[in-house]
Amino acid sequence: MSPPRTATIFSPAKINLFLAVTGRRADGYHDLVSVVAPLDFGDLLIAETGERKPEAGRQFDLECNDPEVPVDGNNLILKAAKAFVVATGWMEPVAFRLDKRIPVGAGLGGGSSNATATLLALNQLSGANLGRAELAGLAAGIGSDCPLFLEGGPVIMRGRGERIESLPDPAARRLRGRKVLVFKPSFGVSTAWAYERMAANGPQSYLPAQEAERRIAAWLGGDSDAGGLLFNNLEPVVFRKFVALPVLLEDLRRGFGLAARMSGSGSSCFALLPSGAPVSEIVTTIREAWGAVCFVQPATIA
Ligand code: C5P
Repeated sequence: MSPPRTATIFSPAKINLFLAVTGRRADGYHDLVSVVAPLDFGDLLIAETGERKPEAGRQFDLECNDPEVPVDGNNLILKAAKAFVVATGWMEPVAFRLDKRIPVGAGLGGGSSNATATLLALNQLSGANLGRAELAGLAAGIGSDCPLFLEGGPVIMRGRGERIESLPDPAARRLRGRKVLVFKPSFGVSTAWAYERMAANGPQSYLPAQEAERRIAAWLGGDSDAGGLLFNNLEPVVFRKFVALPVLLEDLRRGFGLAARMSGSGSSCFALLPSGAPVSEIVTTIREAWGAVCFVQPATIA
């Protein structure tokens, strides 16, 4: 047997700085225009060939430090591994270890990021050398938010999420390095539920694609910082049910003058932290509102 080989891949969380859902598609999914950025905060995926024999009959084995994360075929890591094998015919057994830090049901893209990290790990270990376009095709087949994680920087995402354009350099520089505080209450929000509610509210809940493009173009052509970009039209449907979210965001705006939004379909929110922001006071305000054990994570846009 050849000696074990290991691939260690950082699997970042993302935030949607701008998220416009622009309409429902014939396939039931929604079209969107979104500016998304990975963070320097995330999970770690370790993939090792030949270290131990995965359970008889299975090519892949998955362990996770978080007992709440399913390690069966529903996990996007195993779905991605399966898709990779179908595409390449690679047969070696691999043991995956996921060090999970991104909360689940959070709108932070954790599962999607893990899936893309899996494709990158297997591409390394197998020597299959799939190119960017092939990896993007596989990623898009696993989840709408998977392809964006191939870029390693801020992107504009269109369609269902499969059309990715990296943000032009000068604009990316206005985002990269910005400090954010990400926070999530103890409950999550189902992405499918949020989109379903939006569809039930009728066409007026969407932002026309042309208007979304106009707003992004205006930000790209201007000189305002990340705060000038923040938008998310999934907020009204999610806020109607989960009122703790808008109440706290309003407190942070009024009390500290912060630019703050929900990420994706929630329940995570984030605030941009200007230099010198009173971080410990802000964290205290969040914990007073959402409880001492809620998730609060400082991070930097990557
Ligand atoms: O693609 P993913 O599995 O992450 O999406 C979860 C659910 O969110 C989908 O089943 C769909 O109901 C909804 N969704 C959508 N339009 C998108 C992305 C997700 O309607 N662009």
